[in-house]
Amino acid sequence: MQNDHNTTESTARPVHGGIKEAELRALGLRLEDCLDFSASVSPLGPPDGVAEAIAGVDLSSYPDPHCLALTEAIATHHGRDGVDAGNVIVGNGSTEIIHLLTRAYIEQMPADGSRSALLLTPTYGEYDGAVRISGGKVHALPATRGCREFTWDTDSAVRLISSHGPALTFVCNPNNPTGALITLPDIESLADAMHVAGGLLVLDEAYINLSDRWAEAGAIALAARHSSIVVLRSMTKDYALTALRLGYGIAAPAVIARLQALQPDWSVNGLAQAAGMVAIADQEYLARARRAVAVSRECVVERLGALGIQCYPTAANFILARVGDAPELRDRLALQGLFVRDCTSFGLPDCIRIGLRPVDDCVRLTDAIAELIDR
Ligand SMILES: Cc1ncc(COP(=O)(O)O)c(C=O)c1O
Repeated sequence: MQNDHNTTESTARPVHGGIKEAELRALGLRLEDCLDFSASVSPLGPPDGVAEAIAGVDLSSYPDPHCLALTEAIATHHGRDGVDAGNVIVGNGSTEIIHLLTRAYIEQMPADGSRSALLLTPTYGEYDGAVRISGGKVHALPATRGCREFTWDTDSAVRLISSHGPALTFVCNPNNPTGALITLPDIESLADAMHVAGGLLVLDEAYINLSDRWAEAGAIALAARHSSIVVLRSMTKDYALTALRLGYGIAAPAVIARLQALQPDWSVNGLAQAAGMVAIADQEYLARARRAVAVSRECVVERLGALGIQCYPTAANFILARVGDAPELRDRLALQGLFVRDCTSFGLPDCIRIGLRPVDDCVRLTDAIAELIDR
């Protein structure tokens, strides 16, 4: 709940996409009959070999508490960007790392330090939730909603950093739910401002690997050499390891060590570690996933456009669409087992977010929307 230009106050847990058992029961639906467009993950499903690797895990052994093999494989994967194993932390989803960051940099901040974070909103609800759990205050820079797109003014963000001196600034790039992308020069300006403020810029790149602009905007190389940047990646999203959850962070070794000191042992289970090893070794997968996303994106934008529904430009594997009464449309689609994300919790009650699934599923969804709008 927004209470002034740039602070928020709420004790509620963040709202997330995904299908909940309680709703399935209430609607008399079975999960296997539903299509989930509310959690935006790779449309290809997990890479070949993941199911086999999981089946091969010895369920009676503890996982490696240090995720050593996967940490090394991730470092090798980003080796060209100057990453080595000391720059990597693996988490039970990137969300675990978000919470480690707020614990390390807000909760454990000495009383005379800044216990606040800056968010560029509307954005992923877990940042706000994690900051509050850690006892921090949230400053928000709301995006300007133009008739065509959502934009933030980087100079305003830099000014807020200088005036509030937040311990953390969270930037989701591309942003959930708007799909807007911040360019590298702007990221560097924010990182420099955070450096001066003595804090960390957290760049959540959960969706960058599925973006057609991944090469131009990805900031891993920057994180490997800039002591004030942490980049988060979500293997949950990249490789559709959704039921397992897996993510990692790239940062300076001192930052990584501070986060690891707070991480519970075994937080990344053995199935996720085994799946992650197979996924990261698949050199072709992400390019194929990006092609599938591009085909589905074109299909949804064209079909919704033909219905007179505005789609905001997106650099991600989801589309923010302006539909009027989002909760109502979301609920009517859910009756048919089609789950989209109502964006009311983001402060956008006229928008739904559609995670791009394979194109046949997208045709089914847009047909259902066309029929409901027609009634
Ligand atoms: C921006 C963003 N970051 C992180 C996550 C969580 O991903 P993970 O499963 O890696 O924790 C989400 C999930 O919706 C997200 O939207």
